Amino acid sequence: MIIETFTITTFQQNTRIVACEETGKAICIDPGEESNKIVPFLHDNNFELQAITLTHGHLDHVGGTFALHKTFPDAEIILHKDDEDLYYGLPQQPLFMGLSPHQLKSLGLEYENPPQLTCNWQDGEIYQVGNLSFKVLHCPGHTRGHIILAEEKTKKVFVGDCLFAGSIGRTDLPGGSYEQLLDSITNKILPLGDDFTVYSGHGRETTIGQEKLTNPFLATGQNRER
Ligand SMILES: [Fe+2]
Repeated sequence: MIIETFTITTFQQNTRIVACEETGKAICIDPGEESNKIVPFLHDNNFELQAITLTHGHLDHVGGTFALHKTFPDAEIILHKDDEDLYYGLPQQPLFMGLSPHQLKSLGLEYENPPQLTCNWQDGEIYQVGNLSFKVLHCPGHTRGHIILAEEKTKKVFVGDCLFAGSIGRTDLPGGSYEQLLDSITNKILPLGDDFTVYSGHGRETTIGQEKLTNPFLATGQNRER
């Protein structure tokens, strides 16, 4: 598996190209905004962009879909159905975050209507990219339709904004639920195994084992007593 991370947008979001090195098939996980680095990276490596795979519908994760899809019109665009409202409402999202229309241009948050989704993620499905097999797990809490992509052979999981090194996703935006997020993390993410490397939508990589030991939001009874 080849993973290239591009930290972009005013929110320092991690857009990733993940490719199967044997077949050259690739996906772009969460294109946050148009970037002059992503397309050349795909071309230079002769990767075939099979899909734009979205973990959830927030603007800093989907804002570059329009531009990337213009270059690769055959690539699928996949999102969970419960985040479709966020996705198709992309041009309005900054206003719901409390920004006023005149601020949008300078912040790079002026969006066109995003292209039509090709299909929706189904909880539990296996999504194949060349020889890579991603298990799709619905993990609501940060948004209603958040999913994660877990590749079990290489023990890597792409968790979007569910879990971060030392923190968890915010739950105060529309559709967020703290209880649901903790439930998703506890029952979907942690059981993958301590040796899984975690690739988050923001910040550095970590492992599930490390987060179980040190993340204050996931602290076990033993940790809390210290
Ligand atoms: Fe988010």
